[in-house]
Amino acid sequence: MKNVVLCGFMGCGKSTIGRIMAKRADLTFVDMDRYIEEKEGMTVSEIFEKFGEARFRELETEACRELSEQENLVIASGGGTLTFQQNIDILKSSGKIVFVDVSYENLCERLKRDTRRPLLQVENRNETIARLLEERLPVYRRAASVIVNGNFNSGVVANNILGILR
Ligand code: S3P
Repeated sequence: MKNVVLCGFMGCGKSTIGRIMAKRADLTFVDMDRYIEEKEGMTVSEIFEKFGEARFRELETEACRELSEQENLVIASGGGTLTFQQNIDILKSSGKIVFVDVSYENLCERLKRDTRRPLLQVENRNETIARLLEERLPVYRRAASVIVNGNFNSGVVANNILGILR
């Protein structure tokens, strides 16, 4: 197997879990948002602000293509990445997709002080989370070949994933 791609809603712990997995399994961790930020020389928020979400989605697909050409990566995708079929196709061809499933209540708690995610800088944050989650849950479930319970601490979730993949 080439790469492991973690998918799931904003705040589900993809980056923290991915970093732990990579360390424990001697793989290379890549956070897709950070990868895009480094390439573009600006933050995700700045890309949304200056060029709009559509441009960010193009950059995301470009990142999927580039990363899928590499091997031995643990990739933390963005919460919206796997909501596009072309990204699913690209990432699936390069490895296993793992959905980190976290409850609505825990997501709201973990995201309540977020200032970094443009989609959540709204008045009714929990309603937005509920709406997006309803849309995206079936998509994540369909895209992934492994689903893990993400309502535990990151070290436990990372070990569970590594155990399943071994
Ligand atoms: C997004 C999730 C973010 C980032 C962007 C859009 C989304 O990534 O890609 O703000 O559409 O859910 P995280 O899931 O790492 O927060």
